[in-house]
This record gives sequence, structure tokens and C-alpha cells, in this order.
Amino acid sequence: MEVKTDFLPLKGTDHIEFYVGNAKQAAYFYQSAFGFELVAYAGPETGVKDRASYVLQQEKLRFVLTTPLYPESEAAAHIHKHGDGVKTIALWVDDAKKSFEETVKRGAKPAFEPYTISDADGSVTLSGIHTYGDTLHVFVERNAYKGAFMPNFKPMKSGMKTTPVGLKYVDHCVGNVELGEMNKWVKFYEEVMGFKLLITFDDEDISTEYSALMSKVVSNGNGYIKFPINEPAKGKKKSQIEEYIDFYRGAGVQHVAIATDNIIHTVGELRNRGIDFLVVPDTYYEDLKTRVGAIDEDVEALKKLNVLVDRDDEGYLLQIFTKPLEDRPTLFFEIIQRKGAVSFGKGNFKALFESIEREQALRGNL
Ligand code: FE2
Repeated sequence: MEVKTDFLPLKGTDHIEFYVGNAKQAAYFYQSAFGFELVAYAGPETGVKDRASYVLQQEKLRFVLTTPLYPESEAAAHIHKHGDGVKTIALWVDDAKKSFEETVKRGAKPAFEPYTISDADGSVTLSGIHTYGDTLHVFVERNAYKGAFMPNFKPMKSGMKTTPVGLKYVDHCVGNVELGEMNKWVKFYEEVMGFKLLITFDDEDISTEYSALMSKVVSNGNGYIKFPINEPAKGKKKSQIEEYIDFYRGAGVQHVAIATDNIIHTVGELRNRGIDFLVVPDTYYEDLKTRVGAIDEDVEALKKLNVLVDRDDEGYLLQIFTKPLEDRPTLFFEIIQRKGAVSFGKGNFKALFESIEREQALRGNL
């Protein structure tokens, strides 16, 4: 029997880079509201002339917030077109050069060739390929790098005292693509990156009275990286995916799902710090126990915070979506706590999507 080796072994999500209009202020938001700690900075003071980047960390979760300093830069064009959003989902690898060669050989469009940067703390090798829209995957090879983030960045601490809210790591990252494009991108992840198709949701699973979407989830060999890909489906009214695409001006990252060990604590803290979440009607909780069976959490506490529950064959999960984190109705976060469940909350899709539609209607986009 032929044993296939994984041509693209991934050790996890290295970081997510956001292009934002004002990284200094965005860094303050992620520190104060989401409890991240500022750990590193790059900009003119570190020899990077055209941008400023702030690196924020909480457990294994690392965000890089980048603002261009000149209107001519690629980042400025990105923000002009898309608004604030995810530029890069960076993946942690043992060999950035091989990751680049293996994926480009299979049809990936190169973003940049492998290169190595070094300082007194060691070296990091980077390479990049394009995925949907203007989004990139960057392969990060750390070579046991000992510094705060990577060469060209200096360690930076903030004067403000931050309190973590229990965010642990990226559970999954969801992409929205244009009508008819989902299978093309699923094929890209299968053929170019060696991912496997995990789950398919059709519009029967996901449609509400008004709007619909289709979704397929792909995952890498060890399951550390999971990318659901959504496309709009025809409904009576405008799909939420279409609204995203209209405002993001193309395909892009719809949500980043972040894992926690204690969703009641995490969401309670986030609410106290002013983060807005989608609201489901109280009736959602009336038959919760009959739908999902016994759970460890107090239903009243979940109801108060609007946390949703779903069960699959392996266990259950608790989840909630924030409202969009920008003024454009584009990127949002999901907070998720898995108690055995390996799925994505199919049982909650209807309630969540109806909630999204109420928000869409308020914006005049339904
Ligand atoms: Fe999700």
C-alpha cells in the first residue's frame, strides 16, 4: 500500500496580519477590549520605512496590525478597496522554501519568493502565496528564533495593564468567495495545499426564510488548520455572503474563530469591555436541553450572554459571533469552546443567520 506523505506539514497558525487604517489605535482596541498584550513593533524606528506594525499576543493567538505610511503602498490600496481586514493567514512550517516550492509546483500563484531575515536572536525564513481575493498565505519557518516576533521587529510593551480574557488559539478561519467560486477554492486547498474536504453544507442546511449560503470545510492533514469556504446561494433576499462581498469588494476572510476554555468567562469579559455580539431570541433557550441533552453549563448563564450550543457525535460546543469589528459589515470573530465536538455548530446556523439578517435589514442591505 502506498503511504502518502503530507507535502505541506503545518504546525499551526503562526499569526494573522490585518491591514488597518490606524494600527496604533487598533492595537489599543485589541489590548483593552480583547485583552491582548503588545509584544513587538516594526516601523521607521526599526528600519521599516513604509509601514508600522504592532504584534499582539494572547496565549497562542498572535495578531499583527499593520498600517501603511504612504498612499502609494500596496497596503494603502488594500485598505482603500477593502477597508480594515485580514491580509495574511500565516502558517507555521518547518521549511518555508519547500512549502513554497511544493504549493507553487501544484499551481499556487506566488506572492513572494522565500527569503531569510536574521538578527541577534536568530533567523526566520518567509515565503508567500496567494489565496482567495487579495488574501495571502505566508509560510513562516522560525528556526528556533528567540526574539519577540521576527527580525526587523523590536520588543515593545504597552504602558497599559491588560487583562487576558481567555482567548487561546485560532480554531478556524472562514473565507467568503463569490457566487460559483466555492468549489474552485476547495479544489485549490485540496490540490495545491493537500487539504481534505471535511464537511459540506448545502443551502438546504443553511437557508433561512430569506437568504442562503453554501459552505465546505477543508482541513490539513493533522487537523490543526481548518478553513470553511462560503459562497452565496440564491434566496428570497440578499445573502449575507453577498453583503460581505459587496462591502469588502471581493472575496476575503469573513470570520476568525477563536478558542476559549471558558466561554462564559470570556464572553462576559468581552461584553463588559463593550464588544457587541449577535442576539438570538429567548425562545432559542426554551428547548435547548431537549435539543442538545445534558451540558455542564447553566442555561440561564448562557441565555444571559446569548451563547449558543450544538451537539455532534463526539460531544458539544458553545459558540457566539461578534458583530462586525469595522464599520463595513465585513470581518467578525467567533468565540468557540469545544467540549468534544469537532463540527461547526450546524444546529445554530438558522438562529445565527436570522440574527445576521436582522442586522442586515437595519443596514438596509437585506
Ligand atoms: Fe465559524
